[in-house]
Amino acid sequence: MTVEESLFQFYQKNALELQSGKSLEGSVAWQSPSNIAIVKYWGKHGNQLPNNPSVSFTLSHARSETSIRYHYKPTRGVSLDFFFEGMPNAAFGQKILTFMQSILPVFPFLNHLHLSIESKNTFPHSSGIASSASSMSALVMCLMEIEKQISNFSTDTAMFLRKASYFSRLGSGSAARSVFPYAGLWGKTDEVPESSDEFAIPLAQILHPVFKTFRDSILIISSGTKPVSSRAGHALMEGNPFAAARYEQANKNTGDLLNALKTGDLEAFIDIAEAEALQLHALMMTSKPSFILMQPESLAAISALRSFRNETGIPVSFTLDAGPNLHVLYPENYSNEVTDFIRNELLHYCQNQSWIDDCVGSGPSPIALNS
Ligand code: PMV
Repeated sequence: MTVEESLFQFYQKNALELQSGKSLEGSVAWQSPSNIAIVKYWGKHGNQLPNNPSVSFTLSHARSETSIRYHYKPTRGVSLDFFFEGMPNAAFGQKILTFMQSILPVFPFLNHLHLSIESKNTFPHSSGIASSASSMSALVMCLMEIEKQISNFSTDTAMFLRKASYFSRLGSGSAARSVFPYAGLWGKTDEVPESSDEFAIPLAQILHPVFKTFRDSILIISSGTKPVSSRAGHALMEGNPFAAARYEQANKNTGDLLNALKTGDLEAFIDIAEAEALQLHALMMTSKPSFILMQPESLAAISALRSFRNETGIPVSFTLDAGPNLHVLYPENYSNEVTDFIRNELLHYCQNQSWIDDCVGSGPSPIALNS
């Protein structure tokens, strides 16, 4: 069914309620995880389109939980209240309002409903975990669920997730990848004909089993606010003297990483993950203005991790987001050794010894509402 057909059905089904203002109400709730990119998206153009393909693991415990109660309202226009972790939050509410106004042509029912949105994260604010990826994807899952409830729009799971990825991307680029279990690929690459800049695609079907239970222990080196927003960071790529070489590298790394993910080649995985993390930071260092987003403790922890890997042969590696916190990546069967190592040798580099133990997870799911 096309979007136009589904809208036609929606208006047919709800015409009476819309006219009389009766009974168009309900509630939905979804949880959606954050993700950690192995090949990084850094640099964009047009309407949130990436300058290179990226590949990420979907996390398990670092999630946003969002619920929306909706009811009919007679006046036209997007209308919402937004509560973050139980408190009204005007700044986030405004961001969501702007986002919803931008997607009105495809979700026109938003013109006729008042939405009361509540959202919370299972991880601390400023922990360096991408909350925009989890929160935007959870919000979009809720909107798609409302569409399902109030219209006859039905679609198979693959199309539902593709559409969710498309709209999540418009909210926050990296959110496009959060809707899929285990791992996602976002951005056109010659290696995968069905890949697209407009939405991410799932990688679960090609993933070697070792990666389906991969661990990501996130060391909180510093929980301070970022000196540069993601939006500003992407924009800095426009004048970066290494931009062309970076996009070439990212394309090559995507192809090589997809191979490693298929075959379970941990050595190749380690090389690519660490090269990508350091390239992202090198790009920030060579931007104008320049930003150094790592802390001395980030470098000390990287150095200790590499020594531990060399001494033990355990295939543990790291990646970084656009911040100082280290994501320590390793196969599940080395959990005991690596967590002992983290506790004994890395925790003193962390702010208040804090770290978050996470792993690759199965993607968004609906949450049962009590009333
Ligand atoms: O989704 P954004 O616009 O916040 O950009 C995310 C960029 C990185 O997290 C640094 C890399 C990535 O691919 O997730």
